[in-house]
Parts: sequence; structure tokens; C-alpha cells
Amino acid sequence: MNKYKTLRSKITVFTLCAIIIANIITSLIIALLIAIGLVHSRFMMTIWLPIAFLITSGILGTALASIMSKQIIKPLDRLSKATQEVAKGDFSIRLKEDTNVQAVNSLLENFNKMAAELGSIEMFRSDFINNFSHEFKTPIVSICGFARQLQKDDLTEDEQKKYARIIASNAQHLASMSSSVLLLTKLDTQQIIEGKETYSLDNQIRGCILSMQSEWERKNIILTVDLAEVSYCGNREILGHIWSNLIANAIKFSHENGEITITMEEKDNAVHVRIQDNGIGIDKEIMPHIFEKFYQGDSSHKTSGNGLGLPLVKRIIELCKGEIKVESVKDEGSIFTITLPNE
Ligand SMILES: Nc1ncnc2c1ncn2[C@@H]1O[C@H](COP(=O)(O)OP(=O)(O)O)[C@@H](O)[C@H]1O
Ligand SMILES: [Mg+2]
Repeated sequence: MNKYKTLRSKITVFTLCAIIIANIITSLIIALLIAIGLVHSRFMMTIWLPIAFLITSGILGTALASIMSKQIIKPLDRLSKATQEVAKGDFSIRLKEDTNVQAVNSLLENFNKMAAELGSIEMFRSDFINNFSHEFKTPIVSICGFARQLQKDDLTEDEQKKYARIIASNAQHLASMSSSVLLLTKLDTQQIIEGKETYSLDNQIRGCILSMQSEWERKNIILTVDLAEVSYCGNREILGHIWSNLIANAIKFSHENGEITITMEEKDNAVHVRIQDNGIGIDKEIMPHIFEKFYQGDSSHKTSGNGLGLPLVKRIIELCKGEIKVESVKDEGSIFTITLPNE
């Protein structure tokens, strides 16, 4: 509101200045004309004086006001054209915030923010629709197929159990994919983490490791855990997704009898968590894509997952103003290092 008050006062001052300057210049011109004798002073005392004054100051005032208001009108003109482009679906358009009027600059800045936001929503929407239809279709088709098989009368008990198991596992896959998609969509539109509380981060990570005990025991993985005591202020539930996704990946991409080391330390007002495995590692060609939505290194879908884990982890870390680093060598293993500011 204040900005618009400033804009209004600027326009008022512009107009006032234009009128005063036009009047001064007109008076000077008339005085000059009388002084050099081009116009007789008695002639000027007649009706012609106000008429001449009116015409000259009118022309001068309009010219001056138009020059001075260019600063406001020109960018508004650009804004109007850019808005039309956005309405046509071009979200790449950006405007230079180069005027001297702060209120107009802030209008242009807000327009740029809006176009960027619309662009990212549009990109997410089109990527999402492409991947969504592909990833969701497969389990749905499988559920339909096996449900149809189950309706047959000549099935053995083993076959019935097998088909029911496949349906349950596909339904489970769909459910977990839907909740990841919903969470990711929600976090993508969020700018800050809400629902913060102070809690023990080491306890949370330890709890997460324990909840996956059956998985790492099944692969006979040796786990080394060294966590400093850390009290962290954040959204416990959202942070939990970081640890569960990264630890689940470390287990999933480890070989039988593999080794996983999880450490945490706090220094320089930040928490540093390191999750290291000596599993399959990440190929150089795969590395640039691992944080993309729905991307899975193994496109044959032999390993469980949906390619939403790392994008979710990355978004949560972004919202926490932290960072994630990956070092990996194919066939040797991977190290994921997470740094979260903790002041
Ligand atoms: N610890 C790891 N070791 C090897 N590859 C990994 C590891 N973590 C992630 N990746 C690679 O990154 C890809 C994306 O990971 P993610 O988003 O969690 O999807 P998902 O686990 O569903 O495959 C994985 O498919 C895999 O290729
Ligand atoms: Mg994963």
C-alpha cells in the first residue's frame, strides 16, 4: 500500500513540476519577446496575453509531463506486453528492473517472480503427467490382470496365493508412490518448514536404522553407527524422510555381507551426517540424474522403488537450507553427506 502511495505522490510531483516549469518558461518566452521588441507590450495587455500563455504553457506542460512520466509509463507498457505473453503460455519472459521509481521496480520484480513460479509449476506439471502416467500405469495394469486371473475357477491354492501376493505388492507400491508424490508436491510449493520442534536427531536416526533391521539383517550387512548427541530444531516427520530414504537406498544398493557406516557430528553450527555403503556405486552417466523425479538407475525396475526418494530428500534439505553431496564409484560404493545448519 505504501509503495502505491509513493507512486501516486511521484506522479503528483511530476505533474506539479511540469506545470510550474511550463509556466516559468512561458513567462520567460513572453518577456523575451517583449524585450527584443517582437511583440508589443500593449498588445500583450489585451485578451491575447492569457490566450498565448494558455497555449504555450499547455504545449510545454504536456511535453514535459510526457517526458517525465516516461519513467513510469514505459515499464508499465512493457509489463502489459509481458503479461499478454504469459497469458499465451510463455513463462520464460523476464523484465529488467531498471527504473528509478521503486514502486515500479517492485511491480516488475513481482511479475518476474510470478512468471518464474508459473514456469516451474508448468514444468512440474508436464514432467509429472508424463512420468505419472508411465509409473502408475504399470502396477494398475498388473493389478487388473491378476485380479481377472483370480476370478477363474480352475486355480490351485498356490496360484491363488501367488496372484493375491502380486496384487498386494502392486497396491503397496501404488500407495507408497502416491504418498511420495503428494508429499513432494506439497513441499515443492512450500517455502519454509512448518511445525518445528527441538528433538534428538541421533535418536531419530537410530530409530530409523532399527525400523529397517529386518532388511539389513536379511542381507547380512555389517552396520557401523557413530552418532554424536545432537539436539536439532526441525520438523521431525519431514526430516525422517531424509534418513529413511538414504538408509533404505544404502541397504537396497548394497551386496550381501556389505558394509554400511552412518556417522553424525556437529561443528561450525551445522550437523554433518554421512551415510556410506560399499555397494554397487553410481555410474558417471547415471549420477547427473539421480535427483530427478521418477528416475531410477536400473530402468528394468528389478529393484523396488519409484525414483522419488532422492528428489524428496533434496527438496527437504533445500527447505532446511542445507546441502547434500554425493561421492560414488561404480562397483565400489557411495557416500551421501548431508549438512544441515543448526543454530
Ligand atoms: N546408495 C546408493 N548406491 C547406489 N545407487 C544409488 C544409491 N542411492 C541412490 N542410487 C541411485 O539413484 C537412483 C535414485 O534413487 P531414489 O530416488 O531413491 O530412487 P529409488 O530408490 O526408488 O530407485 C537409484 O535408482 C539408484 O540408481
Ligand atoms: Mg530410494
